[in-house]
Amino acid sequence: MSYSIAVAGKGGTGKTSLCGLAIRYLMGKKRGPVFAVDADANANLHDVLGVEVHATIGALREESLETIKGTGRRPGGMSVEELFDYHVHQSLIEANGFDLLVMGRPEGAGCYCAANNFIRKYMDKLADRYRYTVMDNEAGLEHLSRRTTQDIDLLMIISDPSVRGVMTAGRIARLIKELGLNIKRTVLIVNRVQDGMREDPSLLQAIQKQAVDFAGFVSADDMIIDYDLNGRPLITLPADTKALNEFFGILGKLIP
Ligand SMILES: Nc1ncnc2c1ncn2[C@@H]1O[C@H](COP(=O)(O)OP(=O)(O)O)[C@@H](O)[C@H]1O
Ligand SMILES: [Mg+2]
Repeated sequence: MSYSIAVAGKGGTGKTSLCGLAIRYLMGKKRGPVFAVDADANANLHDVLGVEVHATIGALREESLETIKGTGRRPGGMSVEELFDYHVHQSLIEANGFDLLVMGRPEGAGCYCAANNFIRKYMDKLADRYRYTVMDNEAGLEHLSRRTTQDIDLLMIISDPSVRGVMTAGRIARLIKELGLNIKRTVLIVNRVQDGMREDPSLLQAIQKQAVDFAGFVSADDMIIDYDLNGRPLITLPADTKALNEFFGILGKLIP
């Protein structure tokens, strides 16, 4: 079984950045390639990872739907499973230390369909080939239940360091509970923290009030800003980067 990590939180809180760093952390465990899934319709995890995307699952969806319905052609009498397997392998971006699968744009309206269920089941199966799966998400949560794997070992809710941000994160945690997903552990991480904020009484109080475990702070880091501005992949940040070390410290306590 793959140990799977997913993120939630409003836009711009650092979900994609921290997914990238989590992938780097897990690569360091040397347990084989990490399975990276970009489930954000506006995919940008590949930038953080420093790879190009040549194909997405979204592009396959129409085709696989036709096949499932039996209207499509199946080359050489392949089963649906075999065909899908073939397609997924075509879109799997294999890099040094991780394999990336990009879900791509969501399907058209009304298509909560067989193909989606199929993809979801298939993703679970594919993930089983890896020790670790890291899934980046957009801010919306619906697709957490609709588009992606059901079982999540660790859900990291990322917040900015403000009282309102933390309250939003708490609300997201509650909504996720209502979705009834099988999530083993949910934690709150407050990212982009400036000097002095860690001791701020109202921020600390807001954190404590939320019904979600607080896992720690990650500093606002000039290195991340610099890498972002210069289009350099965050996964190649120097090992002594402050935010990276803080985040790795948090992950060290959470991940077996
Ligand atoms: N710890 C940090 N310090 C400085 N900048 C950060 C930090 N974390 C994220 N950022 C920056 O914040 C912006 C939004 O981050 P991103 O990971 O894309 O957020 P999300 O995926 O939640 O929308 C990016 O420009 C990123 O470089
Ligand atoms: Mg993102």
